[in-house]
Amino acid sequence: MDLRNKRFAILGLQGSGKTTLAKWILKNFPSHLVYDVLKEYVGFNRYIPKWRQYGLQSLEELNLAANKLIIGNEKRPAIFIMDEANRYCPSKRPLPDAVLALNDWSRHLGISFGVIARRPVQLNTDLIELAHYIIIFNLKGKNDVEYFNSFVSGLGDQLPNLPKYHFIVVDEHRNYEIYAPVRL
Ligand SMILES: Nc1ncnc2c1ncn2[C@@H]1O[C@H](COP(=O)(O)OP(=O)(O)OP(=O)(O)O)[C@@H](O)[C@H]1O
Ligand SMILES: [Mg+2]
Repeated sequence: MDLRNKRFAILGLQGSGKTTLAKWILKNFPSHLVYDVLKEYVGFNRYIPKWRQYGLQSLEELNLAANKLIIGNEKRPAIFIMDEANRYCPSKRPLPDAVLALNDWSRHLGISFGVIARRPVQLNTDLIELAHYIIIFNLKGKNDVEYFNSFVSGLGDQLPNLPKYHFIVVDEHRNYEIYAPVRL
């Protein structure tokens, strides 16, 4: 899995290992930035937002931060990860301008862009469907299983049975592979 200049989404139930994997990824990118909503990324280059629930203020803060630190920054980091992205990019709502720009232009900007949420239904579908890599931990819900089965035949059926901290990586060609837990 080569995440350079790629867009990716990390999904999975509570406690399945998403944030831990994000930390592992960030360690491989010394030039990084993480949108650290829950103040979990101690020791990483992080932006801790003041506003943490969907609304005018949180979207404005996100747009300002992303424009200043990434889009309009010539020395922008090589990777940007938004944990708890469903708070800012929920399904059936237009993407915030900065996220739209990142999702459309990440390659042009020369960055990797990753989003994290628990369930696919919580997240704007463009962030999943336009991602180069979809990384999925344990998911048990019938709708989630069906969602990923319709995405790639048989994929959803694998998700309830994934062992602890294991994950599936779906690549650009929608081939997938099971990975063992990362070690921080
Ligand atoms: N690969 C791993 N090896 C060992 N422990 C792990 C691993 N991944 C996660 N854990 C442990 O499991 C717990 C939950 O992990 P993590 O915070 O990464 O989950 P999450 O998917 O981000 O959960 P949430 O949906 O609540 O944000 C943590 O205590 C973490 O240390
Ligand atoms: Mg987490």
